[in-house]
Amino acid sequence: MDTEIQSVSRSRQFSKVCEVLDHFAYDSTKLIPILQAVQEEYRYLPEEVMSFIATSLDLSPARVYGVATFYSHFALEAKGKYVIRVCDGTACHVKGSMKLADVVREKLGLDEKKTTTPDMLFTVETVSCLGACGLAPVMVINDEVHGQLTAEKANQIVDNIITMERNNARNN
Ligand code: FES
Repeated sequence: MDTEIQSVSRSRQFSKVCEVLDHFAYDSTKLIPILQAVQEEYRYLPEEVMSFIATSLDLSPARVYGVATFYSHFALEAKGKYVIRVCDGTACHVKGSMKLADVVREKLGLDEKKTTTPDMLFTVETVSCLGACGLAPVMVINDEVHGQLTAEKANQIVDNIITMERNNARNN
């Protein structure tokens, strides 16, 4: 492959990243918002994307990787379409949130090490206080907060998503 073709295919592969970089005028002081915007596109920060951002902003890959690993908000591994975060803060824990996590994991064939389903539909994580202690026990699915949960309710919520996704797949 000659250099010109290589560069065209590379820029196609990273076209969304280029849009984000354009939006922030290739300003390396905006690295954090750039990484946030890129993560919204990919749902995580692939290694090759971080290298591309580093080159484009004239930063070292170590600097970009360092920022991405410092903030827990950034994900370095691919996550499912639905990221389920079960709160393990004190208020939720005493109200049995880890039982909820177990129920949801078991339903999806996951455990503490295997956190994402093979179809990339679900990721299940536990997190510290989500700031909604009055609703304990709480889980958040993407940005949607579900509070005062029971195992049955959590099961039902996940079932509803599975049904919705199956219907969408049939209609496409
Ligand atoms: S402890 Fe769960 S929301 Fe605060």
